Amino acid sequence: MWKNVKAAPADSILGLTEAFRNDPNVKKVNLGVGVYKDEEGRTPILACVKAAEKILLEKEGTKSYLPISGDPTYAKEVQNLLFGEASEVITSGRAVTAHAPGGTGALRVGGDLLKKFYPAAKVWISKPTWANHKGVFQTAGFELAEYAYYNPATRAVDFGAMTACLEKVPAGDIVLLHACCHNPSGVDLNSDQWRQVAAIGKEKGWIPFLDFAYQGFGESVEADRCGIEEFAATGVDFFIASSFSKNFGLYNERTGALTVVCPTAEEAAVAMSHLKTTIRVIYSNPPAHGGLVVATILSDPELHKQWLGELAGMRDRIKAMRVALVEGLAARGVKGDFSSITRQRGMFSFSGLSDEIVAWLRTNKAIYVVGGGRINLAGLTKANIDYVCDAIAEALDK
Ligand code: LMR
Repeated sequence: MWKNVKAAPADSILGLTEAFRNDPNVKKVNLGVGVYKDEEGRTPILACVKAAEKILLEKEGTKSYLPISGDPTYAKEVQNLLFGEASEVITSGRAVTAHAPGGTGALRVGGDLLKKFYPAAKVWISKPTWANHKGVFQTAGFELAEYAYYNPATRAVDFGAMTACLEKVPAGDIVLLHACCHNPSGVDLNSDQWRQVAAIGKEKGWIPFLDFAYQGFGESVEADRCGIEEFAATGVDFFIASSFSKNFGLYNERTGALTVVCPTAEEAAVAMSHLKTTIRVIYSNPPAHGGLVVATILSDPELHKQWLGELAGMRDRIKAMRVALVEGLAARGVKGDFSSITRQRGMFSFSGLSDEIVAWLRTNKAIYVVGGGRINLAGLTKANIDYVCDAIAEALDK
């Protein structure tokens, strides 16, 4: 069957992790995949997760199927995080949420659902975007188009170019937006800019689809949802793919959600019926464990507080590593202005390193960076920061 088939290329992000694992160099550093590392270079299980798992181990009485849309308490807690408790979206009941296997699963379910009702739509992605966005929506059968987003010259959002593109997106097309901590650039819209983008969406009639994989890694759980709040305030239909891989460290539990926000509760009920038929033919119903962990933590005031503290700890450590990297490069007299790294948010930074430098770092120093120069700051620690700064200084001196 496979004799005459050419092997597929390795995934641009997860393939890098495979290569990293196989690299025998003891000094190797993985700045590729978006996975949090602590100061010891480990990806820890949060203490609140361990506590919730202990509770579940004692209390859980069945492994029977969950409903197609997942555990209802999980859906309720997801909505509390997305919109804020007692927000109008929640009290009016005009949003429905299904547990999906990770943020990627949520994007794909959303893509399949949209394809049923908007078969001729294009999906507009930011330039640049997370590499997997393209694959997910192309495989769901959509043609892609790009809207302007990051300006490498200013290392900031080119808001004028972005809004000029979004003004031209036809009604019924889908616009995929990063709700916070833009992946890969690390540059975000402010709340005033979100308001303007939401107003354009409402006026032009395109369908917003917000990818929300890093809530709490920017400023805070509340501040990071300002884009969601602006779209909610317009009253339009929109989609949110959210994930607890990063902010709960539940990477391998595939714990995400697709939320469909509608103008009314009646429409939301119809949306849920189609969401269920979409899910049923892909994975039938979701895996339970990650969702039960999240629901247990968020519905317990003490565990919830503990989670917020642990999340702040991850966020603060990444911010400290941003400063350490910029200072480390400056101390070595590295040419170029890297100060934008401290203004970027979330796990990633567009370092400005060329693909040639990225390849040199991998071959000569076993430092793994995603093509395009995206660095995962969470992969830096006090133990490896000097090695990384020395290597970048050497590479840029070539
Ligand atoms: C990343 O961008 O590195 C993460 O979201 C992990 C992934 O699945 O690509």
